[in-house]
Amino acid sequence: MIATHNPGKLAEMRELLAPHGVEAVSAGELGLAEPEETGDSFRANAGIKAIAAAKATGLPAFADDSGLVVDALDGAPGIHSARWAGEGKDFMAAMTRIERLLQERGATAPEHRKAHFVSALCVAWPDDHLEEVEARVDGTLAWPPRGTAGFGYDPAFLPDGYTRTFGEMSSIEKHGLPPLGLGLSHRARAFVKLAEICLEPR
Ligand code: IMP
Repeated sequence: MIATHNPGKLAEMRELLAPHGVEAVSAGELGLAEPEETGDSFRANAGIKAIAAAKATGLPAFADDSGLVVDALDGAPGIHSARWAGEGKDFMAAMTRIERLLQERGATAPEHRKAHFVSALCVAWPDDHLEEVEARVDGTLAWPPRGTAGFGYDPAFLPDGYTRTFGEMSSIEKHGLPPLGLGLSHRARAFVKLAEICLEPR
């Protein structure tokens, strides 16, 4: 099962699992409560979500904890990336808040607008053992945000070496997996590591 209530993440995690012949229900579909993310790292919070879901269902549970880390903001929003969008999950407001803070710091040149996404993935097995991996993708923050694909901060994130934001890419391009590439997004790169550990080859 996929331990998320976030529809954007769920779609990507299902797409990543599908070529390995794995189908999964989600925590949202099962009506599970969302555990409080009390960890102080992406890895800790991925573990909290996966362990809670595995305990509640008796199924192997796959969780992602991820976020956007902005260099000029000392790593914010980081593990608080979802919270910056507030109760209404308003990511345009969260991107605007980041942009205001960057402007206040005079961060207008691309070299002062460096950021990366991190994804920590955890699989919790019913026998209590865990598989944990983490990966990142580096890029620059674009303003104004561009594109309507993806979710969260995707329209503001320009991955290094590309001219289009994640918001302007299909999910297939954002994953950047074979035959297109060897993994582009933080989540796809982490998933490649996870697949090596515990999934059948594609
Ligand atoms: P959490 O892992 O549930 O704490 O939430 C992570 C938050 O980081 C998401 O709600 C998004 O706002 C943001 N985020 C994580 N991964 C991505 C991504 O691939 N694209 C855009 N935003 C992301």
